[in-house]
Amino acid sequence: MIIPKLKTKDLVTVTDLTRGEIMAIFRLTAALKKDARRGRHRDLLNKKSLAMIFEKSSTRTRVSFEAGITQLGGHALFLDGNDIQLRRGETIDDTARVLSRYVDGIMIRTFSHDNVVELARNATIPVINGLSDEHHPCQALADFFTIFEREKNANRMRMAYIGDGNNVAHSLIQCAALLGVDISIACPAAYEPDQDLVEEARRTATGSGSVIEITRDPAAAVENAYYLYTDVWISMGEEKKAARKKKALAKYKITKELLSKGRADSKVMHCLPAHRDEEIESDVLDSGRSIVFDQAENRLHVQKAIMCALMGR
Ligand code: CP
Ligand code: NVA
Repeated sequence: MIIPKLKTKDLVTVTDLTRGEIMAIFRLTAALKKDARRGRHRDLLNKKSLAMIFEKSSTRTRVSFEAGITQLGGHALFLDGNDIQLRRGETIDDTARVLSRYVDGIMIRTFSHDNVVELARNATIPVINGLSDEHHPCQALADFFTIFEREKNANRMRMAYIGDGNNVAHSLIQCAALLGVDISIACPAAYEPDQDLVEEARRTATGSGSVIEITRDPAAAVENAYYLYTDVWISMGEEKKAARKKKALAKYKITKELLSKGRADSKVMHCLPAHRDEEIESDVLDSGRSIVFDQAENRLHVQKAIMCALMGR
């Protein structure tokens, strides 16, 4: 197994990585997945500890990181954001410096993206973003690994994202731009992805050859897409905006009807958790077109590769 050597200390956003580094992570992911499927695990992070700070709920991220580091011979500590001293006013800076004396890596799920940036800046150990209000890099890397392990032909990788221009959309755009995959985002004007992020991704895309489109028309987005992606309309922490967002996003939903307007062989993706029959019809999520549980499984394998690359040196 070749452990990629990364330039970055941390994974705060997808753009911490180069295209070459992502592909190296995917090669390690494929090897780790093949081993795991045979019931084999290697102690690549023997006795290493990962502190996991959660200020928001999680099923996939929490379980896949903890199971992942255990499979690699290490250990995870679950730190509820409400229990640790951060909640009582200890600074992120001090938390970073203290945890750096105990453990070998930190994974954080938080609200403000600046918290992740500050933690990474002040920790001497790797920091991994397990979701902030603005980014979800581990998700996007698992999603593109899911596509790359299915496809030999790069032309078949075009993605349409239907819905809220949120944290998951941001990381997907950045990953698509680096990897040279076309992505079309169909969303209402009020819920477009961050404009600066899109402009930066477009500059990256000129090098990789991908096209990044924003449209108001879900049918136009899915027309030539091989992968149709959506995420919840109301992200964690946005509960007060629910009524307004549901109204604005009503037509940005993956339905059987929308599927019928695109390619007959397109696949449906969702980072989960899904709000069934809100952003996606329940039948579509359960259909043969859906690859959502492959995405969920690949969180485990991709994150093991990320932890090896960041914490294994
Ligand atoms: N997709 C994802 O990050 O799921 P969790 O919120 O369950 O971790
Ligand atoms: N956009 C969602 C993703 C959950 C994994 C949220 O932030 O709640």
